[in-house]
Amino acid sequence: MKNNWSPDSWRNKPAQQLPDYPDMDALKAAEQRVTGLPPLVFAGEARNLKRKLADVAMGKSFLLQGGDCAESFAEFGADKIRDTFRVLLQMSVVMTFGGSIPVVKMGRMAGQFAKPRSSDTETQGDVTLPSYRGDNVNGFDFTAEARIPDPERMIQGYYQSAATLNLLRAFAHGGYADLNRVHGWNLDFVNDSPLTERYEQLAAEIDKSLAFMSACGISGDKTPELVRQTDFYTCHEALLLPYEEAMTRIDSTTGGWYDTSAHFLWIGARTHQLDGAQIEFVRGIENPIGLKCSPALEPDTLIRLIDILNPANEPGRLTLISRMGHENVEEKFAPLVRKVKEEGRHVVWSCDPMHGNTIKSSSGYKTRQFDDVMGEIKGFFAVHRAEGTHPGGIHLELTGQNVTECTGGAEKLSDDDLSARYHTVCDPRLNANQALELAFLVADELKVMDIGNPLKALQAAAAE
Ligand code: PEP
Ligand code: CO
Repeated sequence: MKNNWSPDSWRNKPAQQLPDYPDMDALKAAEQRVTGLPPLVFAGEARNLKRKLADVAMGKSFLLQGGDCAESFAEFGADKIRDTFRVLLQMSVVMTFGGSIPVVKMGRMAGQFAKPRSSDTETQGDVTLPSYRGDNVNGFDFTAEARIPDPERMIQGYYQSAATLNLLRAFAHGGYADLNRVHGWNLDFVNDSPLTERYEQLAAEIDKSLAFMSACGISGDKTPELVRQTDFYTCHEALLLPYEEAMTRIDSTTGGWYDTSAHFLWIGARTHQLDGAQIEFVRGIENPIGLKCSPALEPDTLIRLIDILNPANEPGRLTLISRMGHENVEEKFAPLVRKVKEEGRHVVWSCDPMHGNTIKSSSGYKTRQFDDVMGEIKGFFAVHRAEGTHPGGIHLELTGQNVTECTGGAEKLSDDDLSARYHTVCDPRLNANQALELAFLVADELKVMDIGNPLKALQAAAAE
């Protein structure tokens, strides 16, 4: 076991962003129930993901991480899960073929419930109530009763995660993700968008490659399993520590501790204090982990955090997810990349272009402008080009549904359009069209980096 670490050692550290449960006995009872529930993911799967992320860290692969800001109990259903899965598949195919690089796919799904908040309270008119902290903590409705933290919600969160994961596994391995269905993923509303033509052209190219394979005798049962199915991983923020602790189990194969609530857990920008509870918790689990890097993070502090989180300098263990805001990339992000390179640390660099670019629209909604999001990604690539480091991936808030939460993009959504379908319970997400458009632009950036070459595209497809 890591020095003085145990699944509950975080309890001796100052904790930020945890709910004040009014009934400690009820909390204890809920924790005990979760402790007795089966793991949601397996240690071996988390190890596979770590190996794939090691390839990303070494510049051989690209990471796509995306999904809701916060999953919700009310917005839960097969169609919604399928739509998010589908758009992630489409994006991945666009980047794999356009950028000639294998893509590791991870959904902010099956457990992304708990939310950090900038303020402990929310005021509407002359009423002030505790903030909403995610559906596994309290209710979204603006009533005193809904906002009371209820530990039973952890159990509902667990079961919703189990059902979501069950469907994701079926989609990934049961035929839906077969590359031969690449046209089928484009059905529904994406069909009449300006992106359809571009996507269909790419799908036709993929068809040609598959036809070529078939002509070489590689078809039917001989088609590599990797063309017929895909690997898909889950992740969420390691915020609600009573739940994460209860899901943490010893792996009998290796004797290590794994948080079995998801394959990958990350530390949010508000909870990465060096001596804080969340850092203490994740340092002891063997899963691959992430750390959000905000403009406030100094290069020296980042190195101290890396010392704690990845003391063995193991590639794939740590993903640094920068969320700077498009205007801060050169000033705040470049020094971090330089320092990590100087110190020889193996990390995956991923860009979250969402959280530093949130604004209030003229119509009063929290939103993000597509061009700002893309601006941060372009800046991210430019810094890596200049430093000779690998732009490892992107981390997005998106949905496969046709929402109107972020402005801009090919459909030119405006502030006035936001009210039409603004469904998020937390931050604004890219809709399916915006997400796909972004994937094409990222593929263009990857092309400029020339990480792959035309032959590699085929290999990459086979490797996915
Ligand atoms: C999030 O990813 O939803 C989030 C709250 O991000 P950050 O911690 O970077 O603000
Ligand atoms: Co968010």
